[in-house]
Amino acid sequence: MRTRYSSAQIVLHWLVFVLVVLTYTTMDLKGAFAKGSFARELLTLTHYSLGFCVLFLMCVRLFVRAMYVTPAIKPALPQWQHCLSVTLHTIVYLTFIGLPVLGILSQYFGGHDWTMFTIRMPRSYLADLPLQKQLKTLHEWLANTGYYLIGLHAFAALWHHYGRRDNTLIRMLPGKD
Ligand code: HEM
Ligand code: HEM
Repeated sequence: MRTRYSSAQIVLHWLVFVLVVLTYTTMDLKGAFAKGSFARELLTLTHYSLGFCVLFLMCVRLFVRAMYVTPAIKPALPQWQHCLSVTLHTIVYLTFIGLPVLGILSQYFGGHDWTMFTIRMPRSYLADLPLQKQLKTLHEWLANTGYYLIGLHAFAALWHHYGRRDNTLIRMLPGKD
């Protein structure tokens, strides 16, 4: 019986982690540059493109997850903690799939041309600016909630490792099975 997540799951987990950090960073840096400047446009384009990669890889993760049995945590968790962790992971999946989808939809209804990876993306023929604004507001709200969610998730992983001293974190790190 496997004691760690599969290599594919471990690589995908940490790759998505790096991409999420970079996607947030593009928005944090954007404010430092003047509107219409090349740097600001580049950061925006990078934000859309990296955000799309997060969406794609989170979906791939769900497929890969279905192919493997999740390795057991040792010592085993009480039932309520197991339920809590399944709930939190489900919320993390939903957030980091929903977030880029909302971003893409807000661009779609914006009524102007936009690109990802320098490729021109489809857009609604008629702009729906109230809907676009709502989607953007929701995207920004969810993005800000995402900071706390990742913080909670990382704190839980560290608590398992240093507090409870179980193998939760080791299961998500590279190494021999
Ligand atoms: C996991 C992926 C993503 C994360 C973590 C993320 C995160 C963020 C953050 C933190 C902000 C700034 C929020 C604020 O100012 O309070 C933002 C804004 C925005 N994001 Fe994303 N985003 C992601 C994906 C996308 C995608 C795929 C698109 C579109 C293709 C997109 C479009 C936008 C737009 C249009 C804004 C508003 C920018 C502005 O008004 O200057 N995002 N996002
Ligand atoms: C310092 C940052 C992070 C640490 C220390 C960390 C650690 C871990 C650990 C130890 C697990 C295994 C938990 C278990 O099986 O009970 C896990 C699972 C998971 N992590 Fe992270 N993680 C971090 C960041 C992230 C980020 C940024 C995302 C996504 C945006 C993420 C998404 C997930 C998901 C969805 C799972 C569930 C995996 C599954 O069972 O399919 N993590 N993480």
